[in-house]
Amino acid sequence: MSITNLEEIRESFLEKLFMLSKEADVLNLKSDFIGKNGIVSGLLKSLKDMDPEERKSFGPKVNELKDFIQEKTSLFLNKLEVDEINEKLSHDRIDTTLTERVQVKVLKHGGYHPRTIIQQEIEDIFLSMGFDILDGPHIEDEFHNFEALNIPKDHPARDMQDTFWFHDPNSQLDVDGGGKKRLLRTHTSTIQVRGMLSRKPPFRFIAPGVVFRCERTDASHEMVFTQLEGMMVGKDISVSNLIYFMKTILREIFKKDVEVRLRPGFFPFVEPGFELDIRCLICEGRGCSVCKHIGWLELLPCGMVHPNVLKSGGIDPKEFNGFAFGLGLDRLVMMKYGIDDIRHLQSGDLRFNSQFKLY
Ligand code: DAH
Repeated sequence: MSITNLEEIRESFLEKLFMLSKEADVLNLKSDFIGKNGIVSGLLKSLKDMDPEERKSFGPKVNELKDFIQEKTSLFLNKLEVDEINEKLSHDRIDTTLTERVQVKVLKHGGYHPRTIIQQEIEDIFLSMGFDILDGPHIEDEFHNFEALNIPKDHPARDMQDTFWFHDPNSQLDVDGGGKKRLLRTHTSTIQVRGMLSRKPPFRFIAPGVVFRCERTDASHEMVFTQLEGMMVGKDISVSNLIYFMKTILREIFKKDVEVRLRPGFFPFVEPGFELDIRCLICEGRGCSVCKHIGWLELLPCGMVHPNVLKSGGIDPKEFNGFAFGLGLDRLVMMKYGIDDIRHLQSGDLRFNSQFKLY
């Protein structure tokens, strides 16, 4: 056996290899050459019968050939695999760059409304902190919407521009049994009154729901939007309790510490009252249409429950006190998902809705 023969073996291996297209055939070919009974293995075995000089020059060449065949086989198998994938892709295309939204559309799956997702998340957090969840009617009366909440007769909130009144003089529905005018609730604070009248302190509850305002719409105002009211009544409740709950909830929702600031705010039903603002997460404080270019967003008006309100709810303000808040749920949703126009939420547009979590 000579070096020339080794060259011939190498050539013959390559020639055969390049004709193949199946993994099994490649493995068979490999075995014909370097398998137990392969040609090259035979040569290796014959080394021991050679004289030492010949073995010295010939041995390394045979080993080299064996390694060469080994390496070419693996490279060729890789190539076959890539060819196979490319071949599949050419008629069975999956575009991994498609967004989730487009895929959802193709599959015709529904999605939870983003507001539902956030509401459920918040409810879970409050439930874990011992709060009940209450509901109340959309059609309310002056007592629950205003009087019981210490909103006097001449308060601007009662204005025709803000409140949808029922004022058909022929309809019995326009006034309640006590002659109070009916309206669409302008805030979920009505449920504070219902909550206080239906339980004894100490208690804590939240009340999510839609509210109605007769006002001009823009990127951050809607006529129908959602609030989440909260109330905690007991003994010796303080502003720091209020701040603790508010910060906890915002951290849980945004999964990080959100920058907040507390300003004095006036609401007839709380004293003192506050506005808790968060740093706008849409523009990160640079200013955008949602935060009206001030970088901060009013998110959480709150305060210590006014003694008159406790009285309307049948609670002695000398014995008990508490805090209340009215979270702007839609704004929170917008911040969480980076939605820049509140009107999307109410649009009923499935292209918008189906971008969120699937059922
Ligand atoms: N009801 C108020 C509104 O709709 C929001 C609000 C402010 C609720 C302060 C509260 C509160 O419970 O303490 O504008």
